[in-house]
Amino acid sequence: MGVNRQLRLAQRPDGLVDDSTFELVEEPIPDLADGEALVRNVYLSIDPTNRVWIREEPSYLPPVAIGEVMRSGAVGEVVESRNDDYPVGATVTGLLGWQEFSVLGAGVFARVVPAGVPMTAVMNVLGTSGMTAYFGLIDIAEPKPGETVVVSGAAGSVGSLAGQVAKILDCRVIGIAGTDDKCAWVTDDLGFDACINYKTEDVGKRLDELCPDGIDVYFDNVGGSILDHALARLALNARISVCGTISSYNASGLPEPLYWYGNLVSMRARMEGFLVLDYLDRFDEGAAKMLEWIAEGKLKAREEIVEGLEHAPRALNMLFAGENTGKLLVKVGDEPAA
Ligand SMILES: NC(=O)c1ccc[n+]([C@@H]2O[C@H](COP(=O)([O-])OP(=O)(O)OC[C@H]3O[C@@H](n4cnc5c(N)ncnc54)[C@H](OP(=O)(O)O)[C@@H]3O)[C@@H](O)[C@H]2O)c1
Repeated sequence: MGVNRQLRLAQRPDGLVDDSTFELVEEPIPDLADGEALVRNVYLSIDPTNRVWIREEPSYLPPVAIGEVMRSGAVGEVVESRNDDYPVGATVTGLLGWQEFSVLGAGVFARVVPAGVPMTAVMNVLGTSGMTAYFGLIDIAEPKPGETVVVSGAAGSVGSLAGQVAKILDCRVIGIAGTDDKCAWVTDDLGFDACINYKTEDVGKRLDELCPDGIDVYFDNVGGSILDHALARLALNARISVCGTISSYNASGLPEPLYWYGNLVSMRARMEGFLVLDYLDRFDEGAAKMLEWIAEGKLKAREEIVEGLEHAPRALNMLFAGENTGKLLVKVGDEPAA
């Protein structure tokens, strides 16, 4: 019987997580009951929403309870099974948690991934990040060729993919990101038309210069004052796809006020939030499209990998410090031999 290392929520943080937020515990790997399967986790998906899930207030999922294994998306390999749906050797993905082994069954489910798909892609372009970008842009914002699309969090996992999809759909794409290197990546490597460094440039002034006819689509990953700058510059019939509001996830008080909300009325604009979980039954459709674009050389995905389960809390903070480019993963085990 082996050991399973887990990170359990010890206390709710005030602001960024720290050493007291999670407890590293070791438990024996349990024997399987009928209907269960054992997964050896390989990559944990580090997502801004992890921070939302450990707040006291309920969101779209109940808060992680004190003492519970930290909730997280992950991908791994089935290493033992008493369930024919999860054969040994299969790659599976689901909410497997911040731990080295997870037991499927008894309320924990996973999706079996077709053989040959790289595990990193399952966590990124073919997983929730990719599907968030795809459906959040296409279904919610309905971009049309020639339109001006602005994407915040542009060098992150979702934003970098959403901006590329908008380019594939023949839009003009302006990114907003936190460093010159990130801006160079999205323009030089990913083909965005321009990018604003919101930490060193005047976002409003730069949007005025880059979007003289206004913003047709704003794909919002951050909320706060950047959203307000976009609201102030909407084109007629603009659409705002509200993907996330990372600027408020660590805050304990009220979020920053929005001053330009009234423009939605004068510009007959639409602002709509969405959850990728609502698209689970269309993931195959979105993933097939992303795979097609990758094969055509039109879409690139990038991962940033931190090694070791014990570093997952530090990795979570990296998202808020802007220390990731592309999808942030924590590697907790070796990939299966090919
Ligand atoms: N609706 C859904 O179903 C769904 C699903 C997945 C993700 N999301 C949301 O999508 C957004 C992006 O998620 P992701 O996983 O792709 O993360 P990510 O963009 O890869 O990482 C977060 C990035 O946000 C930027 N950031 C952090 N604090 C910021 C602030 N105060 N103001 C502006 N930018 C800030 C940082 O980049 P800079 O260096 O540019 O600051 C950081 O790299 C999040 O809001 C997340 O909650 C929504």
